[in-house]
Amino acid sequence: MKHKDFIEIHDYTAAEVQEIFELARDMKAQPGKFSDALKGQTLAMIFEKSSTRTRVSFEVGMFQLGGHALFLSARDIQLGRGEPIYDTAKVLARYVDGIMARTFAHKTVTDLAQYASVPVINGLTDLSHPCQAMTDYFTAWEKFRGELKGRKIAYVGDGNNMAHSLMYGAPKVGMHIAIATPGGYAPDPEVVAKAESDAQQAGTRMTITNSIEEAVRDADIVETDVWASMGQEEEAEKRRRDFEGWMIDQRLMSMAKKSAIFMHCLPAHRGEEVSADVIDSEQSVIYDEAENRLHIQKAIMHVLMKDRKR
Ligand code: CP
Ligand code: NVA
Repeated sequence: MKHKDFIEIHDYTAAEVQEIFELARDMKAQPGKFSDALKGQTLAMIFEKSSTRTRVSFEVGMFQLGGHALFLSARDIQLGRGEPIYDTAKVLARYVDGIMARTFAHKTVTDLAQYASVPVINGLTDLSHPCQAMTDYFTAWEKFRGELKGRKIAYVGDGNNMAHSLMYGAPKVGMHIAIATPGGYAPDPEVVAKAESDAQQAGTRMTITNSIEEAVRDADIVETDVWASMGQEEEAEKRRRDFEGWMIDQRLMSMAKKSAIFMHCLPAHRGEEVSADVIDSEQSVIYDEAENRLHIQKAIMHVLMKDRKR
């Protein structure tokens, strides 16, 4: 598989996604076999936003592959004082073998990828969160024993970065996707158009609706996310009002398949987007998702960084 960066699942074929799943599965089963895979390599991790899972799983992942990770808070490096992305990318590439970045503007990550000669991984932007969506589908692949084709995922809530990446991921794993949002919170039309064309090619269905019931009916996966994402803190109060009635609770879960699983990328707000009795139920796989971030990202770093000549 020949890719320099991991920016969107949209950029990868179904076969490549499958290959990453299989590598992640092998790494999870036999981590010791890969302990020298990225020996001597360094990953720079730029964070403009907070993180628990992304920071820890990338840092631990690099360590487990024999490499090293550098945490760079955007506030503390010169980027935060206005040094251009162009220079930051060129300079970092002289020291490190890969860059993972979590940013506000999506363009910051695509610019980094354009200017850095080393691989760049999208660790969440305002537009997308591909590492998480890859992980969620991988977790479902494990739970449903490799049988994802023809299944349905329902995403209920804000048409945000998670919604976008799940939309890009569904056709790659042969799943139908239904996105239900309140009016005014629909996903980005450009992402919808691209994901729709991917779905048509893959022969899967994508539905965008304002009806939670329509989305969750007969779903195999029900997923939601926070109503106010990082950077939207000031809108939190308004969003709480606009999303009234949009909590995933037992009643909604009972409309999905009996075997359905509940997913959330975390952090979560119990009693807002999801009730405690759903997120803490047997159907919930939230901690498997969190763990699998490690395995999927190790696989992605392996694909991008192994055997790269400096
Ligand atoms: N799900 C996720 O990306 O979590 P963090 O914000 O803690 O990294
Ligand atoms: N949509 C959330 C995801 C957090 C992992 C956010 O961007 O804050």
